[in-house]
This record gives sequence, C-alpha cells and structure tokens, in this order.
Amino acid sequence: MNLLLTALLTTVGTGEAPTFSKDVAPILFANCVTCHRPGAIGPFNLTTYAEARKRSKLIARVATDKTMPPWKPEDGHGEFLDTRTLTVAQIATLKMWAEAGAPEGDPKQTPKLPVFKTGWQIGKPDIILKMPKAFTAPAEGRDIYMHFVFPLDIKSDIYVKAVEVRPGNLKVAHHAIGLLDSSGTARKKADPKTGGYVGFGGPGFVPSGFTPGFVPGATPRAFEPGSAITLKKGTDFVLQMHYHPTGKAEVDQTEVGLYLTKEKPTKHMLGVLMGSLEIDIKPGDANYVCTDKFVLPVALKVGSIWAHMHLIGKDVKVWAELPEGKTVKLLRIGDWDFNWQDTYLYKEPVTLPRGTVIKTEWRFDNTNANPRNPNNPPKRVLNGEGSTDEMGGVWIGGEVATEGDMWSLLLANVGHYIEVESKKKAK
Ligand code: HEC
Repeated sequence: MNLLLTALLTTVGTGEAPTFSKDVAPILFANCVTCHRPGAIGPFNLTTYAEARKRSKLIARVATDKTMPPWKPEDGHGEFLDTRTLTVAQIATLKMWAEAGAPEGDPKQTPKLPVFKTGWQIGKPDIILKMPKAFTAPAEGRDIYMHFVFPLDIKSDIYVKAVEVRPGNLKVAHHAIGLLDSSGTARKKADPKTGGYVGFGGPGFVPSGFTPGFVPGATPRAFEPGSAITLKKGTDFVLQMHYHPTGKAEVDQTEVGLYLTKEKPTKHMLGVLMGSLEIDIKPGDANYVCTDKFVLPVALKVGSIWAHMHLIGKDVKVWAELPEGKTVKLLRIGDWDFNWQDTYLYKEPVTLPRGTVIKTEWRFDNTNANPRNPNNPPKRVLNGEGSTDEMGGVWIGGEVATEGDMWSLLLANVGHYIEVESKKKAK
C-alpha cells in the first residue's frame, strides 16, 4: 500500500522529492508543533528546517509506526474531535523526504508558524482556582500524578457551563483531568505543603464527576447550550496533573477557570463508571483478560469516554450491544500507554437506547516481553492504585433525557459499582 502510494506520488507529481518548505513544514506545523515548540511538552522543537533535518529519519520512523503524533484510539471504534493522526499521503511525504536526504527547497515557500493563543482560550472565567503553591516537578524519575485539591465551599448549587485548565508550565504538564469529590476524602489527603497529594493510578476516592481537563493540542470548549455541571454543596474540585520529567526541575502553578451560568441545566449530563476490581495476574501471563458489563436503565447520549489501566495494560475495548441486536464500537486502544490517557470527545453524540448492554474488556501483559512492565522479573499483580498494581476502568460521559432518568442511571450505576466491589471481596 505504502509502496504503491509512494510510486504513485512520484509519478503523478513532478518526480521531484518533497522539500521541507513546500511539503514537510505544512505537515509539521499542523500536526507536531503544538507539542514540539519552545516551552511545550515535546522533548525537542520541530519549528525550523534545521531542527527537522537533524531528525528527518526519526520523524519518518515515528510517523510510519504511528507513535507520533500520539493518538491512541483505533480507527473504526468511535469518531472523535481533536484527533491527532496523519494521512497515508502525509506519512509517505515524510518518508520520501527523509529518504531523499531531507532537502530544504525554497525557504520562501515555508508557511508561517501557527500562532498559539496565550491566556484563557474560552474567555475570562468567573472563578479561578489557582494552585495555592507552585509545584516543583523533579528533573528525573518516573512521571508524577499529583492531585491538587480546591475546596470550593459552595453555599448552594452552582452551574458550570465550561471548565478550562490552563497549565502553568507546558514543558512538564503532560495532561490534566478535573475530578469532583463530594466525599470529603481528597481534602483530608491533601498535604498543606503542596495543596495536594501523589496518587499514581487514581485519586483515592470514587469521583462524583469528571470535568474537562487539559490535553496538549486539544481545544477547550464550553458545554453544549443547556448543558452544565451542577456543583453541589460540599463538592471539592480535584485537579489531577500528570507531570513528565524533562531532565530539568520544572516549576508549575496551574490554574483552572470555571465559567458559571445562572441557568439551571435543561440537559442532564451524567456518566457511567465501569471497572473491574478482581484483577489477579500471574507472572508470565501475556494475555490476562478482565471484563465488565452494564445494562442501561435509560437511554444515554454518549459524548465522551475515558479509559484507565496502569503500566502493564495492553488493550482496552468498549462496545455497546443495542437491544435490537446492533453493535456500536465505542473505543479501542490496542497499544495502551499509561502516559497518554486522554478523555475522548465524540464528533457526534452516540445514542444508546434503554436496555443497551455496554461491555468493556481490559487485557494485560505481565511478561518480560512487555517493555512497560515495572517488575523485572514479573510479579503477581493485584488490583490497586500503586504503580505496580493494576486497574481496569472506563468512564462514559453522556446525557439523559429527564431528571428522573438521571436518578435511575445514577442508582443503577452505584448499584453496579457495589456489585463490582463485592465480587472482589468474594475472591
Ligand atoms: C500531543 C503532543 C505531541 C504531538 C502533537 C507530537 N508529539 Fe512528538 N513527542 C511528544 C512527547 C511528549 C514526546 C516524548 C516521548 C513521549 O513522552 O511519548 C515526543 C517524542 C517524539 C519523538 C522522539 C521519539 C523517540 O523515539 O525518541 C519524535 C521523533 C517526535 N516526537 C516527532 C513528532 C512528529 C513528527 C509529530 C507530528 C507528526 C509529533 N511528534 C507530534 C509529544 C507530541
């Protein structure tokens, strides 16, 4: 396929090799420089000819094997916004350019670098939650998952129509997730020195909700008109920040903007939490499988999805079996990487009627052949939140039709979770 395409491109084209200015820069500027520019998360810049030429072979390789741009969901399993993928033709161009010795071409043809908007993207927030103290991420070592707790001390319900996380330091801020905690657990865990606590695999409480966070290159957006998150009295906002050490100590003080509306939401947004707590993986097991299923008591319009495993997770699949027999594929990540766990937003909401069975399957590889295995030699792995434990989780965010539906779904999901927990205890 690639060979054919390469041949086709050279014969149909002028026969000349692609150049940086005309062919390669537009690809890099549209797909790479959000992360590979000064002050961003990428380990080097790809903003000039000199920077790209030095790495032309590596660029061709990561494009061909699809490690870059980082994008985990597989085609055919959900259509998402802000996808980061290259077309077959773009990959072929990068490859042909590298093979031709990375020619520059006419610098006058190089397009302008995109301008990255600084400041709040959505506008001035009504409430700004700022990390009380700057956090210093160490130069070396494993990635860090900090949970910063913002006690909101809300007197009565408030409605949030948008959330924007504005990282203080894009060099170390790999991604962020917003969590809601109405159990009071997070504030007890927070260390007054940092205003937060470390939690590798999870926040240490069952979130009462999720909010948009931050992913490099993704556009912060307000919810659809009529949609809002209701923050109830006693709810705290918890920001999970993923820091990726850069070789230099980096200081971050991230802010979260909450945009409020007076209007009570007319749409009812809620999520379904699925998981497995029965995990018990023998050392050497290359294909440990655990599953969960949940029957929707009401119709759900699915808008987003987030999946979770730890380091030896290798494959996660989520699909829905509709009452009339049709199967809808919701997400598949066949090459799980703990460091890239985004929340994926569907281009169009996926409507699942009442009675739909949502199924999830998590697979793990607890062998030496798995380069991400933290144990060498492999050890028995149980469920837990530590970096050498494992988890299987999925959060499906959506909208239901009425307030009554919301309660039905909430109760069913809580009941489901109690069942998942009791299965673990029975083991
Ligand atoms: C969303 C952010 C992001 C985007 C977009 C992105 N990169 Fe990267 N890139 C990274 C990060 C972070 C790393 C460091 C490795 C890691 O953490 O996965 C990296 C590493 C690399 C590496 C080194 C890989 C290695 O094996 O040493 C290359 C080459 C690279 N990127 C090229 C590209 C190219 C080419 C594009 C666009 C087609 C691109 N990247 C888009 C974030 C990004």
